[in-house]
Amino acid sequence: MTNLSDSNLSDFCLKLPKIEAHAHINGSLSPSTMRALVARKVDVNPELAAFEIPDSLNCIDDFFSLFKFIYQLTDDEASVTFATQKVIEEFAADGVRYLELRTTPRANADKGMTKHSYLQAVIQAIEQQQQANMKTRLIISIDRRNTLEEAQETVDLALHFQQCSNVVVGVDLCGDVMKGSFLALKPAFERARQQGGFKLTLHFNEVAENIPEAPELLSIRPDRLGHATLLDDYSRTTVYQQAIPVEICMTSNVFSKTVATYEDHHVKQLLEEDHPFILCTDDKGVFGSDLSNEYVLAAKTFGLDRHQLFEASFKSIDYVFADQETKDQLKADWLAWKKDNQDLFVA
Ligand code: IMP
Ligand code: ZN
Repeated sequence: MTNLSDSNLSDFCLKLPKIEAHAHINGSLSPSTMRALVARKVDVNPELAAFEIPDSLNCIDDFFSLFKFIYQLTDDEASVTFATQKVIEEFAADGVRYLELRTTPRANADKGMTKHSYLQAVIQAIEQQQQANMKTRLIISIDRRNTLEEAQETVDLALHFQQCSNVVVGVDLCGDVMKGSFLALKPAFERARQQGGFKLTLHFNEVAENIPEAPELLSIRPDRLGHATLLDDYSRTTVYQQAIPVEICMTSNVFSKTVATYEDHHVKQLLEEDHPFILCTDDKGVFGSDLSNEYVLAAKTFGLDRHQLFEASFKSIDYVFADQETKDQLKADWLAWKKDNQDLFVA
């Protein structure tokens, strides 16, 4: 049962203006969006109705089958647009004021969807769904299992859409942590930065098997790192010396079992060292935790008070893939919110 201070804290974290910088579109579909997509598709694919959409996950195996199911729901452009719009609406309703979504372009020959038309559907949804109170930008993901040719094709798409839209701001390395090699894909990331001026973020050291390739990932001087769960001596020194901001996804890490408990989460060290980090969700639909809940968890686990939560959110502005003018505007908005909501800082 939630007590009064719990609900006050949840209310504060919901109202707090927040930055979301690590959210995979397909992992961010809420159960209600999944149900709406099933309803749109059930006539042509009745099997979809049989899948039990969980309101929360009970075990690790759930999320692999859930991703497989989600990819059946977002297998054509109209569904991709619908899903992206819903994800944007939900982040805005959760108090996010600046959102960087990310997604891996996916083709589906059966429905005539190409990687190009997939991205076009996402970008159109973002452009149509710009909220009065929230800017949305896109990071394009390159899957670790890609060949260099596929990765370069993704960079070509990023460069193409840069010609007609200001939505795409960065490129990400994601996917199964046990597969692929960054070394093989590195030229694509270098070209994304050189030709497009794109910022780079890499899923980094999620499991022990990733540690040998860490120097290679760091050699590209990433602008941010996803997770950075395990810091061996070399990684720790480099990440700290270069003050590389870390995208922190507590619930995702605990559910994926890359971190044993919330109390053991490595964000504790970052807090102690005053190292840059951004609290994020990763896959809010799959792991059942939205961004305001991630702030609640950080507060409860590490005893952060409301001023510290505001500071964490405020500092995150410096680490987003936006120009200085946007960052200055966001900072002004945050400070105005704090001034208008002084009463919320009294627990
Ligand atoms: P999509 O790129 O929009 O299709 O988002 C889902 C994809 O994000 C998954 O298939 C994974 O490849 C990737 N993903 C989600 N969470 C993680 C993570 O924690 N580590 C690495 N990749 C992830
Ligand atoms: Zn991720």
